[in-house]
Amino acid sequence: AAGDKGGWPSFMAKEVTEQPDAVANTIRGRIVDGVVDVPELTAFGDEALSAIRRVIIIGCGTAAYAGLVAKYAIENWAGVPVEVELSHEFRYRDPVISDDTLIVSISQSGETMDTLMAVKYAREAGARTLSICNTQGATIPRESDAAIYTHAGPEVAVASTKAFVAQITALYLFGLHLARVRGSLSADQIGEQLAELEAIPAKLSSVLGVGESIRTLAHWMSDTRSVLFLGRHVGYPVAMEGALKLKELAYIHAEGFAAGELKHGPIALIEPGQPVFVIVPSPRHSALLHAKVVSNIQEIRARGARVIAIAEEGDVAVLPFADEVIRIPLAAPLFEPILAVVPLQLFAMELSTAKGLDVDQPRNLAKSVTVE
Ligand code: G6P
Repeated sequence: AAGDKGGWPSFMAKEVTEQPDAVANTIRGRIVDGVVDVPELTAFGDEALSAIRRVIIIGCGTAAYAGLVAKYAIENWAGVPVEVELSHEFRYRDPVISDDTLIVSISQSGETMDTLMAVKYAREAGARTLSICNTQGATIPRESDAAIYTHAGPEVAVASTKAFVAQITALYLFGLHLARVRGSLSADQIGEQLAELEAIPAKLSSVLGVGESIRTLAHWMSDTRSVLFLGRHVGYPVAMEGALKLKELAYIHAEGFAAGELKHGPIALIEPGQPVFVIVPSPRHSALLHAKVVSNIQEIRARGARVIAIAEEGDVAVLPFADEVIRIPLAAPLFEPILAVVPLQLFAMELSTAKGLDVDQPRNLAKSVTVE
C-alpha cells in the first residue's frame, strides 16, 4: 500500500524500482489501436492545438529537467518552438504571452507554490494552460484548462524518481498527440515513436539490474567531495538531474554540464582524481555527437579525471578511456534519458546510504514547497 515501504530499506529504493510501472501506467489508455489519443487534450479542441505557435514549459527541480528533456522531443515531432523555464523566473520577468501560447506546467505534487503562481499569472495573461501532475485533484491541475495525470502512484521520498520518468512519458504522449493533430508526422512515424515508448518499461526493468555495480561504485566513492556530470543533447538535462540527485541525497557538490560547454570553462575544474559521469549518446543515431562526446572523455581523462561512462550496450568506443562503464539498453535517442537517469538515481541513493544519511528525508528539503 502507499505509505508502506513494502520490505524495501527506503521509499526511494521502492520508488526507483516502480519506474517500469510508472511509465506503463502513464501510457495506459492513451494509445488505442496504435494511435496516440490523450483524452484530456480534447479540452482544447484540435483547432486550438493546431493554432499553438509556442509552448512554454514551467516547473521546479526535477520537474523542470523533465521539461528540458521533452523540449527536444516536442520540437522534433510537432515542429513547435518550446521554451523551458523555472516557474519562479518565468513569473517575474514579464514574459510575452498570447492566446496562441500554451503553458505546460509540470509538478509531481501539484502544490508547488512557485509553479502555481506562474500558472495563474499565465492564465491571467491569456495563455492556455496544461498541467502535468501526479496528484489527483491537486491545486495546479484545478487551476489549469486541462490536466494530464501521470500515474506513477504516490511518491513519498523527497527526491523525485518515478514521477520524473512518468512526466517525460506524459510529455512525450502530449508531443505525439500534438504531432498527429498538426500533421507534422505521418501515422507511421508516430507509430514508430509509440512503439519505442511502449518498449521502455521492459528496458527500465533491465537497467535496474545495474544496482549491484552502482552500490560497489558508491562505496568506493563515499568520501568524494565533488562530482561532475556531462551530457549532450537529451543527455544534458539528464546530467543536471544526476547532479541534483547527488546534492539532494548525498550533500555532495555536483554540477551537470553540457558536454560541448566543457572547453568554455568547466574543463578548468578537472584535476587528477575528479570523478566525472558522462552520458554518452548512441553512436547508431549520430556518429558525430557520439564522436564529440568520446573526444570530451579523452580530454578530461588526459587531465586525470575518473570517468564513469553511461553508454549503450555494445558501444566499445568508450572502453579505452573510461574507468567504469555502466550499460543501458538500446533505445531511440529521444528515449535514452528515461533509461540513463536510472543509474544516476541509484548512485545518489547508494552514496547517501554509504554515508549513513536519511535517503527519504534529506536535510533542509521538503517534498512539496508550498511557499514562494
Ligand atoms: C521540491 C522537491 C523536488 C521537486 C520540486 C518540484 O523542491 O524537493 O524533489 O522536484 O520540489 O516539486 P513538484 O511537486 O512541483 O514536482
